[in-house]
Amino acid sequence: MRTTVGIIGGGPAGLLLARLLHRTGIDCVVLESRARAYVEQRQRAGMLEQGTVDALRECGAADRLDAEGLIHHGIELRFERERHRIDFPVLTGGRTVTIYAQTEIVKDLIALQLAEGPPLLFEAEALAVEKPESQAPVVRFVHEGREQMLSCDYVVGCDGSHGIAQGAFPAEVSCVYAHDYPYSWLGILADVPPSCEELIYARGPGGFALHSMRSPSVSRLYLQVPNGTDVKDWPDDRIWDELSARFAIDGDWRLERGPITSKSVTPMRSCVHEPMCHGRLFLAGDAAHIVPPTGAKGLNLAVSDVRVLARCFAEFHRTGSTQLLDHYSELCLERVWQATRFSYDMTRMLHTQPNGDVFDRRMQLARLRRITASRHAAAELAANYTGLPLAL
Ligand code: APR
Ligand code: PHB
Repeated sequence: MRTTVGIIGGGPAGLLLARLLHRTGIDCVVLESRARAYVEQRQRAGMLEQGTVDALRECGAADRLDAEGLIHHGIELRFERERHRIDFPVLTGGRTVTIYAQTEIVKDLIALQLAEGPPLLFEAEALAVEKPESQAPVVRFVHEGREQMLSCDYVVGCDGSHGIAQGAFPAEVSCVYAHDYPYSWLGILADVPPSCEELIYARGPGGFALHSMRSPSVSRLYLQVPNGTDVKDWPDDRIWDELSARFAIDGDWRLERGPITSKSVTPMRSCVHEPMCHGRLFLAGDAAHIVPPTGAKGLNLAVSDVRVLARCFAEFHRTGSTQLLDHYSELCLERVWQATRFSYDMTRMLHTQPNGDVFDRRMQLARLRRITASRHAAAELAANYTGLPLAL
């Protein structure tokens, strides 16, 4: 097999890149190790920046998003039993965010790609990227029980945080900057209408809690839990009791309960791999960086990487110049580090630090009080949350 751009991974990064390249007339092939059904049911985040929505619209993948996505004009911060609203349009000159599950984006992009191309192979596991420094890199993969080769002009690793593309970077050029947090998130989906109109980020007595949603009848909620937590230790009533305690305010508000349809525990990590390209091999999305979910940046960063990369490829296709492609890594990394900083700050400000002292708690409170008292500080949060501009 031969193609211009070989894409490893059929998550949002790989699928959107394939769609953008296809529309520019650049041929590509996507290799996805999992089965279609698995990829389409995997639960992930669901908060889209305006730029992410725009990118999906521009490539004709937003029909269902436009019909079913929930536009949000702000978020609520809760702490010390008080509620404080951050109004995005007022603070950012009109920007909003949209709630639409990543799983649904993946389903929409897969349906389009299977109908219109380019080729998308499920249960095709990439084993290695060979000769990334050469003019003709090769992806070695297994499909239908046979080992095969995909010869490419360029390879893009969109294979997530446990992928193999990063491994093709020689040790002497790779720098990995990582931070593990001393807590995880227990996430649930529940068949109950959300108890709020906008997302609530709470610093409660027992730790952080987030109230999000998937639709007018499905709530998505998260609780900070210790690393190593087993979901079996969290029966439904315990989850609802703890959520209610962390969201409690002085005033009239109640968390509605309903049947829990899914429970999972996710550890939290920040990680950036530099550079994001080596020879003719590029990394995009979780393959290059991971953020804790508190700032809702993971999916949005994956989308911004591939928007930049698609523009670099389009420039090359149009003019034959590799000038933009040569700068892909620098073009992405500034935004990546800003999102890493924002996610880290949001996480540290809202989570209870195990073994944290009184001083830590007062610092958190001082940060939260500054955001709710100063328009300037609130505008800074709103600008980061709704998404910083692309470099290209
Ligand atoms: N060969 C082929 N496919 C692979 C391989 C491999 N060796 N390794 C991993 N994959 C596939 C995974 O099965 C997955 O479908 O690559 C895909 C990576 O997708 P994601 O993990 O979703 O990563 P990405 O597309 O970068 O999306 C960004 O944002 O909200 C965050 O973590 C969340 O998934 C989200 C991410
Ligand atoms: C989600 O809806 O899953 C979600 C929303 C906001 C976050 C994290 C997750 O910060």
